[in-house]
Amino acid sequence: KGMKEMDLASIIRNIPDFPKAGIQFKDITTLLKNHDAFRQAVDSLYHLFKDQEVDIVVGIEARGFILGSVVAYLLDAGFVPVRKKGKLPAAVRSKTYDLEYGSATLEMHLDAIEKNQKVVIIDDLLATGGTVRAVCEMIEEAGGEIAGIAFLIELESLQGRKAIDKYQVYSLIKLD
Ligand code: PRP
Ligand code: MG
Repeated sequence: KGMKEMDLASIIRNIPDFPKAGIQFKDITTLLKNHDAFRQAVDSLYHLFKDQEVDIVVGIEARGFILGSVVAYLLDAGFVPVRKKGKLPAAVRSKTYDLEYGSATLEMHLDAIEKNQKVVIIDDLLATGGTVRAVCEMIEEAGGEIAGIAFLIELESLQGRKAIDKYQVYSLIKLD
C-alpha cells in the first residue's frame, strides 16, 4: 500500500515470429525476474479472490504453474496442476481441444478435485480461450465449482472471453 504501481504491460517482452512466423510471443520472463513486478502481479491476483471461499487453485502447465502455486499459497488453498498429456502418474481425466493448427490434450488427476469444492483457475495468458475452456470442462466433470478465472494477460482481439462467458473472468493486463 502506498507503493508506486508498476506498468506491468511495459515489462512484458514481445518476441516476433516465435514459435513460428506471424506469431508475436508474449514473453513474461522479463516480468517474472523483476521482483517488484512479480510481487505486484501475484498480489493483484490474490486480491481478486481474497474475500471468497477458495478450496483449490488450478494452474495450467506450464506458465500457469508459476503464478498459480503462489496464489494458492496466499489464499490458503490447495494447488492442482493440469498437465500436458502423459505427465501425470495416477489415473486422469483428459480433454482434447483445438489449437490454431491441430490439437492438444490436457490431463488432471481423477482425485484432484472433490465434489463442490470451490476452484479458481490461474493461467498466464488468455488467447483463443481453448485451453482454459478444456480445463473448465474437466473441473466441472469432477464436480468442482468454478469460483473465478484469472489471467496475467488477455489478448482482447482474440475474444477468448466468449469461450468462458458464464464465469467470472479477470485479467491484469489487456493487450490487442
Ligand atoms: C499458452 C498460454 C496459455 C494458452 C493460451 O500456453 O500459456 O496457457 O497458450 O492459449 P489459448 O487461449 O488460445 O488456448 P502453451 O500451450 O503455449 O504452453 P505453455 O504454457 O506450456 O508454454
Ligand atoms: Mg500455457
